[in-house]
Amino acid sequence: MKALILSGGAGTRLRPITHTSAKQLVPVANKPILFYGLEAIAEAGIVDVGIIVGDTAKEIQEAVKDGSQFGIKVTYIPQEAPLGLAHAVLIARDFLGDDDFVMYLGDNFIVGGISELVDAFQEERPDAGILLTKVPDPRAFGIAELDVDGRVVGLEEKPEVPKSEMALVGVYLLTPVIHTAVRAIEPSDRGELEITDALQWLIDQRYDVRSTTISGYWKDTGKVSDLLEVNHTVLEHVEPLVAGVVDDASVIIGRVRIEAGAQVSGSRIVGPAIIGADTVVKDAYVGPFTALADGCRIEDSEIEYSIVLKGSSVTGVRRVEASLIGRDVEVTPAPRNPAAHRLVLGDHSKVQISR
Ligand code: DAU
Repeated sequence: MKALILSGGAGTRLRPITHTSAKQLVPVANKPILFYGLEAIAEAGIVDVGIIVGDTAKEIQEAVKDGSQFGIKVTYIPQEAPLGLAHAVLIARDFLGDDDFVMYLGDNFIVGGISELVDAFQEERPDAGILLTKVPDPRAFGIAELDVDGRVVGLEEKPEVPKSEMALVGVYLLTPVIHTAVRAIEPSDRGELEITDALQWLIDQRYDVRSTTISGYWKDTGKVSDLLEVNHTVLEHVEPLVAGVVDDASVIIGRVRIEAGAQVSGSRIVGPAIIGADTVVKDAYVGPFTALADGCRIEDSEIEYSIVLKGSSVTGVRRVEASLIGRDVEVTPAPRNPAAHRLVLGDHSKVQISR
């Protein structure tokens, strides 16, 4: 069994962070989201892993390298443009050969891994296996229509009028028959070759497509709010550690991980939280569900329920919350309100100016 991880794509919903970096590498509890997927694959006993890469190929390769840090062997498969999940299967044909494989979307996060699912699939070996879970906003996902016995009878990508609340999770268990399906379908209205359509094609041709409903935690981390929620979930299980220096004037409460080289002084940190290596927290409050990456500086400020990437600073700011702050960012207070306003207003304008 092989694995195909999709790590190309544009990541428009996480802009501006993803203007400069891959959305699959945005960290959750200070570890790139993609690494959780790679670990789950390694844990399921899969060694041969193909990674689809696009514009951010260089960055992904620098992070994952040859995969040995995860105990896997990685082959990079460049995709010229994000032409769809089924297009990714199409271009991975040589790598996949005639093996069964797990297709894993690099921005998906599943608690509990995929080992049991892979084992069950190998035992039963249907033509394809999909995972479903109930979502509150079915129009944002691929949606399955099930019959009374729970069998999949139809699949639709991001339907305007969803037939159910059961969404396709970004992990697919596939056999070589999928290669015929991805060649048989046409691009969708959004111009992509959809894996949803390829699976529908299999259903139409009477292939055995089975679904498993997962009740555990799953998130597509395409949006900032989802990413913060995953960060919340992972931090709840963080291993407490004090490898950095904490002065006597500081108070640390709950599960807090302070990495080597970090310096905490005159501050209050309420976990779960992570303070990355060489990060300075001075006269500040760091609240629950916050992950500060390496080399950050939080001074004379308050921050909670947020992710701060490498090398960024927040200085003199009263309260930052539910925020995703990119790399090497500087957050500082705005200058005081000007004493006079300079205006250029069009005819009939109505303007409210705070006193
Ligand atoms: O997350 C689950 C959903 O994932 C499913 O419910 C949908 O049926 C499925 O189409 C997919 O929808 P998204 O719109 O969320 O997919 P997205 O474009 O975000 O791509 C998912 C991952 O695959 C992401 O890491 C980028 C990568 N990708 C995407 C495309 C379209 C590629 O590597 N190549 C591509 O051509």
